[in-house]
Amino acid sequence: MSNPEPSPSLVALAEADRHRPRFHFVSPAGWLNDPNGLTHREGTYHLFYQYNPTSALHSRIHWGHATSSDLVRWVDQPVALIPGDEGPDRDGCWSGALVDDGGTPTIVYSGRHGDREMPCVATGSADLNTWTKDPGNPVIDGYPEGLEVTAYRDHCVWREGGRWRQLVGSGIVGKGGTALLYESTDLRSWDYVGPLVTGDASTGTVEAGDWTGTMWECVDLFRPPPAQDRDAAEDADPVDVLVFSAWDAGVTHYPLYWTGTYSGDAFVPCELHRLDYGGRYFYAPQSFRDSAGRRLVFGWLQEGRTDEAMVAAGWSGVMSLPRVITLGVDGALVQAPAPEVATLRRDGQECAAQTLTAAAVPLGEGDQRDLEVTAVLAPGSAIEVALATTPDAEEVTVLRISRTGVTEGRVELDRSRSSLDPTVDATPRSGPVPISSDGEVELRVLVDHSALEVFVNGRALTARIYPTREDATGASVSAVTGSAELCRATTWAMRDTWAGPRQLYP
Ligand code: FRU
Repeated sequence: MSNPEPSPSLVALAEADRHRPRFHFVSPAGWLNDPNGLTHREGTYHLFYQYNPTSALHSRIHWGHATSSDLVRWVDQPVALIPGDEGPDRDGCWSGALVDDGGTPTIVYSGRHGDREMPCVATGSADLNTWTKDPGNPVIDGYPEGLEVTAYRDHCVWREGGRWRQLVGSGIVGKGGTALLYESTDLRSWDYVGPLVTGDASTGTVEAGDWTGTMWECVDLFRPPPAQDRDAAEDADPVDVLVFSAWDAGVTHYPLYWTGTYSGDAFVPCELHRLDYGGRYFYAPQSFRDSAGRRLVFGWLQEGRTDEAMVAAGWSGVMSLPRVITLGVDGALVQAPAPEVATLRRDGQECAAQTLTAAAVPLGEGDQRDLEVTAVLAPGSAIEVALATTPDAEEVTVLRISRTGVTEGRVELDRSRSSLDPTVDATPRSGPVPISSDGEVELRVLVDHSALEVFVNGRALTARIYPTREDATGASVSAVTGSAELCRATTWAMRDTWAGPRQLYP
């Protein structure tokens, strides 16, 4: 079968869109959603992703594939999985994981047929470019007996005690989202063990921190390495993390995680957290461990524009920058862009240390920027960073960071004036951030056309913005309440990830 490629006209359409990021990974054209099969093999990073090469809408999903030696500069590879003409994945090859089965690269994914998804397996060549589906697919052909599920898909697969284990994302009707645990010796024949942990769908809100939805998509279980300061803590017991994308009848989508303890056949949850305050703008994340032992994660930045606007643009969906995640002293995950992202920086500009007032201190111009700001906030004070702003602030995206208590703060994103286009999403985003007792705030902002990733003292907030005016390229910082000291601010322009025109499938 020939490699499915987007038509040259779709590629040209996508490339001409001013909202298309230039240093985040995007598909060659058409639709992209979840990261899949993340792996670091013989010095090469492999990123597979949910892909529809023929249109900017979610339909008949393939597995796209790209490789990189440094996590930021990508080379497109042939599409890895294509829905079958018949068989259990004829309506889509949905999300999954890649493992090394005694030297044989093996993908476990969800084959979609009709309105249900069933676990399927494919084996790959050493370069991960040629895949053969198992004739026995689906390898699990029904839901666990006696269990009424809300949905059933996506896979987290690992080797433990000489056997394979996997989690399938699901939900139990009348109870809540869950991760179903299975065991196998050969990745083909699976024994059902039981639900690893189940949420309570009857109550809660995202903001109150007690909502977990009716279905957990893209479950991901791992033990995060400690952050440097936690490393020093003597009494630090190992903490496990279960990341899941909570889903509620299509109404709310939110990436969450439980910290807790995984042992035997259960996960005993301790604390529930939001992984990214952008909610659906950092959805369906998948993590992996690279050969340096880092825990890296990518997530899918959904669009904030209409289906019609996506079709008109010829593409949809952005992959986040790679993030390094560690476990902080307070028991929550600390997130930061992988250091490799900084290799794209050029033309650094430093801003003098000063006391911030209501007067805006400029932070550089452009629509591909990296900003690092360190400030000290007095209790009760707040700073604002204006992003993608026009000189008259008719269009402006406002990021506010406030110190609400001695060691508590908040990050808030106001998109009400981000775009003059009334059809794009302008709903606010916010969440709590830790602040050290000296009031220090370390802020990192990556703006890449419509993609925006913000990190405040290790907490993340991701969103999309679609300014309409050509001059919506400014950035500045000011104090809005109380007093704040700017200790350091450096800004850079960011190079394109693709040095020239994108070469498809060399
Ligand atoms: C999450 C998700 C997964 C599914 C895939 C389909 O965004 O809905 O649960 O496998 O996307 O593309």
